[in-house]
Parts: sequence; C-alpha cells; structure tokens
Amino acid sequence: MSKYLKPKDLERIGRWVKKLDSYMLLDRPSDDIVLGVLNLPYKYIGSGRHRIVFDLDNGYVLKVARMGKGIQRIRNEVDLYHSVPFDLKIHLCKIADYGEGWVVMKKLDQKVPRNEQFYKKTKIMHDKFSHFGMKLSDVTDGKKAKMGNVRLSKGKKIVIIDYGNIHA
Ligand SMILES: Nc1ncnc2c1ncn2[C@@H]1O[C@H](COP(=O)(O)OP(=O)(O)O)[C@@H](O)[C@H]1O
Ligand SMILES: [Mg+2]
Repeated sequence: MSKYLKPKDLERIGRWVKKLDSYMLLDRPSDDIVLGVLNLPYKYIGSGRHRIVFDLDNGYVLKVARMGKGIQRIRNEVDLYHSVPFDLKIHLCKIADYGEGWVVMKKLDQKVPRNEQFYKKTKIMHDKFSHFGMKLSDVTDGKKAKMGNVRLSKGKKIVIIDYGNIHA
C-alpha cells in the first residue's frame, strides 16, 4: 500500500526492480528503454546515473532505480534520512514514502544561486556534515553546490535532493 502510488504502478515498479536485482544489470540502460519497460503514467522529469525521476504532479517526485546499484543508493538514502540529527536533516529533501528500489520525495525546483551568499551557506552545510564524518562529494566541491543534486527550499535553505552516496 502507498499513499502516493496506485497498486498497479507499485506492481510495475516491483517487477522492474526485481529484474534489476536478479539480472545484475550493471550497464546503464537508456532513458527510453527504462521508460518503455516501466510504463508508468507519470511525467518524466529527469534522470541521473542510478535513478529515473517522475513528477507525481502533487508536489512530489518518484525516483526509481535504473540500474542495480540504484537499489542500494535508495536504501542508503532512506536510512540516512531516518538516522541523521535534526541539524543535518533540514538539508535532506523530505522522503514521503519508499519501497525496494523506489522513493517518493518532495519536489524542489529552485536552483541554488551562484553567488557569495550561497557559497558561504554551502560551505557551512559541507562543514556540518563533515563534523559528523560525512563527505558531500556528490553535493559540493566544498564551496559550489553541484546543481544536479542540490536545490533551494522555499525558506532559502540548501537542500540535497540526491543523498544516496552520503555515508555516516
Ligand atoms: N526532489 C526533486 N525535485 C525536483 N527534481 C528532482 C528531485 N530529485 C531529482 N530530481 C531531478 O532528477 C535528476 C536525477 O535525480 P537524482 O536523485 O540526482 O538521481 P541519481 O541518483 O541517479 O543521480 C536530478 O538531477 C533532478 O534534475
Ligand atoms: Mg544525482
């Protein structure tokens, strides 16, 4: 059961994820192939190396693993979200729902502006995670935010939308 996904869509995702797991599909299949096989009724809004992302059109996005490694990245993301202290959690995009190989997150569209004020904020966030022994290599270079994985919240906080690679 999911508040965000219909049983039919959960079934489609489940079938796809099972295939990823058992066939150990290590190469990155093209977006077109993944979209065709998944066949979900949601608008595609982007993809990275490990996941394909859909707009649920209700303020949330759905991310589905697009290769075997993506399943572990999602597990890691969910674990991290549920285990970090509040001070760090405010920088992690809200997870609303999840399952094996998929996660529903809040949709954030605003990019982080490239100026001194936000370089400073990025550095502060970087140091906060560092303090807890976590490296943000997918997120910043210590100063500039990596645009694909970081957004700005309504309250102008820097929020990481892809934290599958952050480890405690
Ligand atoms: N919460 C979100 N809100 C809006 N767009 C998103 C969100 N999460 C991901 N995206 C879009 O999907 C792309 C891929 O998502 P990402 O989580 O970075 O996948 P990967 O783990 O494969 O790198 C992002 O670069 C971004 O364009
Ligand atoms: Mg990414």
